[in-house]
Amino acid sequence: MLSKSQQLFQQALARIPGGVNSPVRAFRAVGGDPVFVERGEGSRIFSVDGRSFVDYVMSWGPLILGHAHPEVIEEITRVARGGTSFGACTEAEVRLAERIADAFPSVERVRLTSSGTEATMSALRVARAATGRDKILKFDGCYHGHADSLLVKAGSGVATLGLPDSPGVPRVLAELTITVPFNDINALERAFAAHPNQLAAVIVEPVAGNMGCVPPQPGFLAMLRQLTTQHGTILIFDEVITGFRVARGGAQELFGIKPDLTTLGKIIGGGLPVGAYGGIAGLMDLVAPAGPVYQAGTLSGNPLAVAAGLKTLEIISRPGFYERLEAISSHLEAGLCSAAQNEGVPLTVNRVGSMLTPFFTPGPVRDYSAARRSDTASFARFFRALLDRGIYWPPSQFESAMVSAAHSSADVEQTIAAASEAIRQLVIHN
Ligand SMILES: Cc1ncc(COP(=O)(O)O)c(C=O)c1O
Repeated sequence: MLSKSQQLFQQALARIPGGVNSPVRAFRAVGGDPVFVERGEGSRIFSVDGRSFVDYVMSWGPLILGHAHPEVIEEITRVARGGTSFGACTEAEVRLAERIADAFPSVERVRLTSSGTEATMSALRVARAATGRDKILKFDGCYHGHADSLLVKAGSGVATLGLPDSPGVPRVLAELTITVPFNDINALERAFAAHPNQLAAVIVEPVAGNMGCVPPQPGFLAMLRQLTTQHGTILIFDEVITGFRVARGGAQELFGIKPDLTTLGKIIGGGLPVGAYGGIAGLMDLVAPAGPVYQAGTLSGNPLAVAAGLKTLEIISRPGFYERLEAISSHLEAGLCSAAQNEGVPLTVNRVGSMLTPFFTPGPVRDYSAARRSDTASFARFFRALLDRGIYWPPSQFESAMVSAAHSSADVEQTIAAASEAIRQLVIHN
C-alpha cells in the first residue's frame, strides 16, 4: 500500500514537472519517493505519514534558528495583521538594510529582492554596467541561482542530476561565462590572461556549498581579491548561503576579504522568500532610480520576509550564538569521522561552521572534480539508511547539510548513531 507521501507524489507528478517545485527535492539522486512535510518544529520536520525526522536540510539554509522559532513566528504574525504587502516604502526595510550594513562593512548600500537568483543576476548586471564589459567568470560546481549567465558548470541540482549546461540558455550568453576550477589560482591567472580587460566580474561562493561544502584553500580568496583589483574586475561574493551562517559577517568576515559586491538571501529572510545584493556606494548607486541600471520587484522588501529576517538577525546577534552553533556542528563532524574510521570507510568530511558534507571519497575535496570522485551510490545508500532512522539529510552528495541552533546534543547523538549504522550497512553491502 502506498504511503500518503507516495500518493501525494503520484498526484504531484500529474500537475507539477517532476512532481516538485525545485529539482533536488525529488530524491532522484538517492532513490525513493520524496517525503511530504506537514510541519516543522525546532530541529525536526514531521511528515504527512506521521513520521518525525531530525532535519539537516533546514530549507537549504534559511532556518539557522530551526523551524518555527517562536519569536520569529510571533513577529511574522504580528506584522501580517497589518498587511502582507504594500509595494511601498516601510520602516522595517530600512532597518534590515542597516542591520546588513552593520554586519557587512563592504556593503554600503543594499537592495532587497525576492530570491537569491534575482540578487546574483542583478549584481552581475551592475558589474557589467560599471565595467562596460560583458564576460564573467565563475567556478565549476558553484551555484548562483538559475539566471542564464550563471547556469554554466553549475552545482546544486544541476550537479545532482548530472545535467549538462541547461538547454534554453542561449549559446551566445553561455559563451560569455568563463569557468575555472574552484581553488585553482593558476587557472584563474590563465583566464585573466586569455580575456584581457574583458572580465566584468568574478562571482564566487567564498565557501562553496553547492558542490557539497568545499572551503577555500588558504590564500585563494586573497589572490582572487588581488587579481580582480589588478584587472579592474568586480569581485562578487555570493553569500546567499554563507551570509550570517559561517559568521555574522559571512565568509568575508571569516576570511578577512572585502568584495566589491555581495549577494545575500536565505537567513536574512528568516525562512520567507528573500534575496539582496549590495556593495560599495559607487557601484550600488548605478541601480535605478539612483542610476540607470534597471532592477525592480513587486514583492521586494516584502514586510513579512523583512520582519522574519530582522527578528532572525536579532536573535543570532545574541552573545554566544555562533559559539554554540560551532560546538554542535563540530560534534557532528567528529561523530561522522569516527563512525567512518571505525568501519574503515573512506569518508572526507568538509565543514565550515554549520555547513558540512561527508564525501564518500578518500579526498581531499578541494574542487568540483574531486567532489565528483565521490561514490554517489554509497552516498545514496547512506542517505536512505539515515532516512529510515529518522534523519532527513540533504538528498544529494553535492549539497551541504545545515546545522541549526535548534539542534541539540541529543539530536546529534541520534544522528551519529544512525550514521554509524548506515556506514556499517555500506560495508556489509560492499
Ligand atoms: C550560493 C547561492 N546563490 C544563489 C542561490 C539562489 O537562491 P534562490 O534559490 O533563492 O534563488 C542559491 C540557492 O541555493 C545559493 O546557494
